[in-house]
Parts: sequence; C-alpha cells; structure tokens
Amino acid sequence: MLQDGKLYIGTSRKPDDTNNKPEYLELKFGNRHGLVTGATGTGKTVTLQILAEGFSNAGVPVFCADVKGDLSGIGAMGEAKDFLQKRADQIGLTPYEFQEFPVIFWDLYGVKGHRVRTTISEMGPLLLSRLMNATDAQEGVINIAFKIADQGGLPLLDLKDLQALLNYMGENASALSNQFGFISKASVGSIQRELLILEQQGAEQFFGEPALKISDIMRTTNDGRGAISVLAADKLMMNPRLYGTFLLWMLSELFEVLPEVGDPDKPKLVFFFDEAHLLFNDAPKVLVERVEQVVRLIRSKGVGVYFVTQNPLDVPETVLAQLGNRVQHALRAYTPREQKAVKTAADTFRPNPDFDCATVITNLGTGEALVSTLEGKGAPSMVERTLIRPPASRLGPVTDAERQDIMKVSPVAGLYDEDFDRESAYEILTARAKKAADAAAAQEQAAAEEANQPASGGSRWTLPGFGDEEPAAPSAPKQAKPRAGYQRETVAEAAMKSVARTVASSLGRALVRGILGSLRR
Ligand SMILES: Nc1ncnc2c1ncn2[C@@H]1O[C@H](COP(=O)(O)OP(=O)(O)OP(=O)(O)O)[C@@H](O)[C@H]1O
Ligand SMILES: [Mg+2]
Repeated sequence: MLQDGKLYIGTSRKPDDTNNKPEYLELKFGNRHGLVTGATGTGKTVTLQILAEGFSNAGVPVFCADVKGDLSGIGAMGEAKDFLQKRADQIGLTPYEFQEFPVIFWDLYGVKGHRVRTTISEMGPLLLSRLMNATDAQEGVINIAFKIADQGGLPLLDLKDLQALLNYMGENASALSNQFGFISKASVGSIQRELLILEQQGAEQFFGEPALKISDIMRTTNDGRGAISVLAADKLMMNPRLYGTFLLWMLSELFEVLPEVGDPDKPKLVFFFDEAHLLFNDAPKVLVERVEQVVRLIRSKGVGVYFVTQNPLDVPETVLAQLGNRVQHALRAYTPREQKAVKTAADTFRPNPDFDCATVITNLGTGEALVSTLEGKGAPSMVERTLIRPPASRLGPVTDAERQDIMKVSPVAGLYDEDFDRESAYEILTARAKKAADAAAAQEQAAAEEANQPASGGSRWTLPGFGDEEPAAPSAPKQAKPRAGYQRETVAEAAMKSVARTVASSLGRALVRGILGSLRR
C-alpha cells in the first residue's frame, strides 16, 4: 500500500460496499494545494493527521495549527483500539502499524510549545491593519508609520516601538504630513487605543525577538522524516483575528523567504490552515486578492497549502479553484445555505458515474469522504467514496508531561524561550526625547550667552523632529521654541548601532515589501 512518491489516504468503496482501490495523494502534486471540509465530528482532524503523517514519512516538513488540542497526539505512538483496528481491517491495511512522529510544538504564549514571535517590521502594514481591523483612515496612518520606519531606519520590533513611533507622529503630524501624506491626529490616537486593546489580549507576547526563523519549521530528522510543527491554537482561537493574521504572516514569510523551485518531486513544506474561515471572515477585498495571489505563486516555491474548514463556501471562489487535492467529509443539508454548500462541494468534483455526489455527501459516515487528487499530468482524478485510513500515531491529545518531554528534546529547545529586547524604535525615540529635553534645557542657558548662527554639518536624515530644522547641538543657538529637538546624526548613529536584522541589511535604502507586506529578502 505504501508506494514511492505516493501518500496513502484510504481505500475507496464500490456501491456494493466492497473494496475498490487504494487512494493516494501523489507527492509531486503535493504543492498543488488541497482542501479538507466536512461538518463537525466527521473526521477532518483525523484526515489532517494522516496527511501530516504521510508527508512527514516522505521527508516533507509540515506546519499545522492544533485548534482543539486533539492533534498533538501525532507526537505519540498510536494505541490499539477496536474501532481503529476495525477500520484497518475494512480497508485491508495489514499490518496496521503504529508510529510516533517528530513534532515541534509551538505556542504564541510559550506555554504549550516554544515561543513563536515576529516583529512589527516583518509583519508589515497590510497584516497589521488586518490585525487591528483598521479603518481606511487608520490604515493610511499605519502605512505612513511603516514608511517612516522603513526609510528612517527605525526598527519596529514590538508594540511599544510602534507606540513610540505613533507618539512621534502625533507630535510632528503637520510636519510629517507635508512629507508623507496627511496624518490625522485622531487616527493616530485611535490606532494607539487599538494597540492597547491588542496588548491586553496578549498580542504583545507575539511581537518581539527572537523572531521565528522559517528554517526552524523546515527541519528534517536524521532518518529523513519531515518535522511536524504543531502550533497550539486553543487559546489563540479566542482571538480569531490574531490567529488568522498570524497564519497569513507565516504564509507571507514563506513566500518571501523561499526560493523558486518550480515543480519538485515532493513539496518543500506543507502548510495546513485549520479553521480556514477565520482567514477570510470579513477580510477586506484587497487582502483576499493578495492571499489568492500568494497561494497561486507559492506553489512554485514548493509549498503546499491545505485549507481545513467545515464549509467549502468559507473559502473564496478564487482560492477554492486552486486547491487540487480534495477530501470532502459529510455535510448536513437542512438549511438553504447548507444545501448550497453541498451543491458547491459536489460541483467541484470530476463526477463518478457510479453515484451522485450531492446525495453521497450527506450520507458519508465518520472518517469517510469523497476523495479526488491530482493525477497524470495534473488533472483531478474521478471522485471516489473513500474510507480514510486510521492514524499511526495517537488519536487524541498528548498529556502535559509528554508535551514537556517532547519540548525538552526539540531541536529548537532554548532558542526562543527568552525575550530579547534590543535597541529599537522605542529606545531610540525615548533616548531622543530625553536628549531633546536635556538639549532644550542647555539651550535655555546657552541662548542667553550665544549669538544666532546656523547649525553646522549636514546629514542625510530628513525626518522632521529629528533635528533638520533644529539646532544641531546644545551649544548651538536657540530657535523659536525647542520642540522635540532631536539631533539627526545621533539618531542615525543610534539606528546604526541597533544592528536591526531587518535594517542592517538595508541601511541606506528603504525596505522593500512583498505582496502581503512582509519584508523582501
Ligand atoms: N479515519 C478514521 N478512522 C477511524 N476513526 C475515525 C477516522 N476519522 C474520524 N474518526 C473518528 O471520528 C472522530 C471525530 O473525528 P475528527 O475529530 O477528525 O472530526 P472533526 O471533523 O475534526 O471534528 P470537529 O469539527 O469537531 O473538529 C474521531 O475521534 C474518531 O473517533
Ligand atoms: Mg477537528
């Protein structure tokens, strides 16, 4: 049943209920994306589990979110259970062997897995706006904030960096507006309030350093299996926008970091989006378009994206059209919307003359699904009614103790546990403000004695409030009123010293952002 280049999904049944044939997902089409749908309790998570197992065994790293905690068992050896053995017998899976998989647990909150963070800079304005559910006016201000930071070499690492930058923007709104476009103080204020809310929701833990390195979710073991990264998402799900934005950031990051590989014989990484409706729920049109674009383009980077959701209507049509490998579990069809979902699901399959898709979808048993994968030159196979294989790893969660044991021996143990707060926008701007205050005090004194002379020495800094229109040093004369009298060359020095990884590589030029707003590298 296990064949080279193919991942065994289950065995299809003829209308008389006898075995038809094993159903596979061809690894060379693993990057052509996929969809797993079905009503609650119909077997989606188990399907995700057996797909992840198959990819891992084929040497393909996997990233998935564990929404209910029940996927974590993939890191533990399976246990004999009557109903699982029965399924194995039914589909001719003999011997039914157990296996534990190399998992790396991740957790934004650092409790059920290794901390996963990113920086504000890396997330970019588009996703940050989505995270805050920003209005158009607020999004405009956020875009300007990133422009100032990207051009000005101000590393935005955590939420307090962004707060500091917004303070600065509020104080210098009119001067900055001339240069960057209109900055409404009201919008700045409302973004600041939104940031406070985010902070209270625990999002502050997610922003900072050390930021997740994509290479850490693309590991393979010495015996050639792909690591399965499992993101603990039970607590995260209480903040659906953070959950959705985080996964989109991962996708965006993969897209910006990975090289083009064309169509490899197996994927470089497979990414499962569980509860995929949360990505698209009232997402602005432009974001949906960008996601559609990234999903389309990321295929040639060898990344397969698999959406898991209850209702196929949850995924926008343009994205749905790109999902080549499909596992459709049972759907209910009581309400008109449910009936529409059944019809949509049925219509996306290449029909099988043996049965009517729409009828079968409503009659499928637990752990049973309509399956169609890409075959031959990449055309969808005829849909088959399939009993999904039972997992080789444990069905159900790991215990807390097991989880801790796995985390202790993980290849990333110790790499992400401690926060690292280096000099960034907050420190730079705070230091500037202090210096400005000191300078102002000194100027008060100096002004009494010294004559008015132009400030000496130029610099390439052109941000208002950073000293361009201000005297250069305490010894220089006092101008009308010492506002935020930042000296620009010291800011430049400070920014240099901060060796921001996002900035160090690009000092002297503005940072460039990709489709979803992540940094281009
Ligand atoms: N392939 C399978 N083989 C054997 N049993 C299965 C299989 N798939 C599902 N089951 C049984 O059905 C139960 C529910 O499956 P699962 O948790 O995957 O559903 P789900 O669609 O993810 O539900 P929810 O939407 O509530 O998360 C499993 O705990 C298991 O007992
Ligand atoms: Mg589930």
